[in-house]
Amino acid sequence: MLSSTLNKALNDQIVMEAYASSYYLSLASWCDQKGFPGTAAFFYAQAEEEREHMMKIFMFVNENEGQAISPGVNEPPADFENVGQCFEIALGHEKKVTASINNIMKLAREENDFRTMNLMQWFVDEQLEEETQMQLIIDKLKLIGDNGVGLYMLDGEMAERAATKEEEEE
Ligand SMILES: [Fe+2]
Ligand SMILES: [Fe+2]
Repeated sequence: MLSSTLNKALNDQIVMEAYASSYYLSLASWCDQKGFPGTAAFFYAQAEEEREHMMKIFMFVNENEGQAISPGVNEPPADFENVGQCFEIALGHEKKVTASINNIMKLAREENDFRTMNLMQWFVDEQLEEETQMQLIIDKLKLIGDNGVGLYMLDGEMAERAATKEEEEE
């Protein structure tokens, strides 16, 4: 059975994942409107993924005799400066999520809650993947600068990434 400390920490994480999903949806919408359909597709896929993360924790809490709370979500910003800023925001948010996951792992360890540790290990790996991915795109965007052709090509690459993501999920 989950301790009340871990139940609370996991419910807070549910809120964070829900907010991440909503934030990615906002980034997707902006990219869609500004003529970056590939990047939009990528962020739409990210939004789906964050929703899955949320549900993974949600179901875990209830399966372990805790009480999962359906989160209220704050409205994320809707306007951004450029594609580069979108990815900087994404990476910044992923880093916050990583810190939060690490903290839950620490709490679970102190309580010898091996099930929660196991769940958190999955998230530790997932966070590494997400941060690496965002950093890679940011590095590319730095090379491209505001070169239109470069941005156009990167958008095509993002469309491919989004398609691969969907295939992986099927
Ligand atoms: Fe997540
Ligand atoms: Fe994420």
